[in-house]
Amino acid sequence: AIDVAKLRALTGLITIDPGFKNTGSTSSAITYLDGENGILKYRGYGIEELAEKSSFLEVAYLLIYGDLPSQKEYENFTREITTHTLVHEDIKKILDGFPSNSHPMGVLSSLICSLTAFYPESLDPTRNEKDVNLSIIRLLAKIPTFATWAFKNKVGHPVNYPDNSLDYCSNFLKMMFALPAEKYDVDPVVAKALDQLLILHADHEQNCSTSTVRMVGSSQASIYASISAGINALWGPLHGGANQAVIEMLEAIKADGGDTKKFIDKAKDKNDPFRLMGFGHRVYKNFDPRAKIIKKAADDVLAKLGVNDPILGIAKELEEAALSDQYFIERNLYPNVDFYSGIIYRALGIPTDMFTVMFAIGRLPGWIAQWKEMRENNEPIGRPRQVYTGATERSYVSMNKRG
Ligand code: ACO
Repeated sequence: AIDVAKLRALTGLITIDPGFKNTGSTSSAITYLDGENGILKYRGYGIEELAEKSSFLEVAYLLIYGDLPSQKEYENFTREITTHTLVHEDIKKILDGFPSNSHPMGVLSSLICSLTAFYPESLDPTRNEKDVNLSIIRLLAKIPTFATWAFKNKVGHPVNYPDNSLDYCSNFLKMMFALPAEKYDVDPVVAKALDQLLILHADHEQNCSTSTVRMVGSSQASIYASISAGINALWGPLHGGANQAVIEMLEAIKADGGDTKKFIDKAKDKNDPFRLMGFGHRVYKNFDPRAKIIKKAADDVLAKLGVNDPILGIAKELEEAALSDQYFIERNLYPNVDFYSGIIYRALGIPTDMFTVMFAIGRLPGWIAQWKEMRENNEPIGRPRQVYTGATERSYVSMNKRG
């Protein structure tokens, strides 16, 4: 067998693969993804079956603990989560410190990271499984509270406290939309659509944010710090921010007169940095299996809610035009999950800058499962190498002689 460490010491051999296009960073038993054939499975279960038959918390349990829960395990898990939905009142003081124009993703990652201060035992890398499990429950329980508070901060409304008589998604919707002195009833169609969306986002193997969670976790930083880092990685428009970018792009097309062809041509122009947001994927080169499920969910939700929105009409036109355009066909550029999730969130009344936050809520179980796996496998600290391309030898010139 080749001793890679020895070889590297002798030859200085370093592989370079910007963007990790062909380089694995770990082995994992959580999510199976076949980009060529459009297959996505969580712990061996097809995403299609889980989206149809399961609930988000059931899928969260599956990802984190490896198996679908028994009835009793599920009841205990959901009860524990419900017990921890409240957050420390002092966290409201942190929230109050954010200007009202703060992006909710920045607020969310900060509030999640603040849990390191409220539960400092999470800083101890040697703590036992029971303690680690409590942190996991706290994260799942508190993220809807934080997310809706980040939104309330933005719109200047008083925050709502969790309603523990409700299921996970209904509680989220109530905290998000209920106003003081107004009765708010959760629409079960909306709650179900949201639950399905969260399932579809729950894990996606070694993407940018998940790799970030594992990387930060590999230094034995607190689980809260690791998840907060994942939220920040998700924020960018080429990753989780894409669904927000989709709606912003659709709005720009509408403001420009609604000519979708013009924007398709713009996306094809190699001298123009513009890309069609919500199209293309690093690993799915034929179709995104999540997009297939979500496209149907989008059609159902729009029909059931009777939404009539010109932005959604532009989305349909763009989708059809791009799917029959040679440029997109040759490059295997299909609408990805973000194209449709943005459309559904808009139909559900969720404001655009909350879209990535919704993604973070959905992705949380995956991040936790990946962090837990990294920890249980005792993975070494992540430390990529580089090939240095800078100056070799330079002589120091004192400042007064530098001209
Ligand atoms: N619009 C126009 N052209 C595109 C698009 C697009 N959305 N996506 C890729 N291309 C073109 C590229 O210009 C390139 O063309 P070329 O071969 O002529 O140079 C070719 O398709 C391949 O593109 P790459 O950038 O090499 O593909 P990569 O796998 O690196 O990138 C990515 C994937 C980042 C998702 C890209 O398709 C993109 O920017 N899409 C828009 C943003 C988006 O929707 N992101 C969400 C991703 S899904 C997620 O995070 C859950």
